[in-house]
Amino acid sequence: MRKNIVAGNWKMNKTLQEGVALATELNEILASKKVNCDVIIGTPFIHLASVCASVDSAKLGVAAENCADHVSGAYTGEVSAAMVKSTGAQYVILGHSERRAYYGETPAILKTKVELALANGLTPIFCIGEVLAEREANKQFEVVEAQIKESLFDLSVEDFSKIILAYEPVWAIGTGKTATAAQAQEIHAYIRSVLAAKYGKKVADNCSILYGGSCKASNAGELFANPDVDGGLIGGAALNAKDFMGIVDAF
Ligand code: PGA
Repeated sequence: MRKNIVAGNWKMNKTLQEGVALATELNEILASKKVNCDVIIGTPFIHLASVCASVDSAKLGVAAENCADHVSGAYTGEVSAAMVKSTGAQYVILGHSERRAYYGETPAILKTKVELALANGLTPIFCIGEVLAEREANKQFEVVEAQIKESLFDLSVEDFSKIILAYEPVWAIGTGKTATAAQAQEIHAYIRSVLAAKYGKKVADNCSILYGGSCKASNAGELFANPDVDGGLIGGAALNAKDFMGIVDAF
């Protein structure tokens, strides 16, 4: 059966020292506590190696927030999937709406990134979600379906089975405005039906679909209680241990 997962996305926050301190604090808490979900932290590239060396990977997974759409070579400033893997990170967040909106990441680019991540043994946490105008036009279903199809539906069943999805309505990210539990369940169930139609019910049932967008300890319980919401991708509330563990404890 699919896993419940709480994953942090630190975005462009924290110096190396601050990041290692937070990772170490979370690692200590998780060492002495039984939790009912997998816990992952997504950190800036430069933190990855130090964070991985500071945590027990069996208790706290580590994700990059991006990787390059090329294998290697003359791409100044880029970080490849193989480089991410070499730090000890196990996951990579791909397709975040901020990357799509601010860095021109198209479905085709994301398709390549997903393939390179998988080829290098990384688990993609693939983000999808509509903007406010699309939600207001009731287009959220077709938008997320297209995002999934365009970047993921050329994958083999075996490769698709490794993907974690994160539904993040763009209007809820960093805005304090959360999707209601009913809105999250409705679209998560729809996403699962899209996966089932392509890859079959078993693959769809085994895929973890996380919710993201102003998720915090006070609303996580209600969101995670939905049958098709398998956890959260957490931005702001992942930046300190108390808030983040409050979300983990919602399971
Ligand atoms: P937020 O960010 O929790 O700060 O809304 C979520 C995300 O962008 O992954």
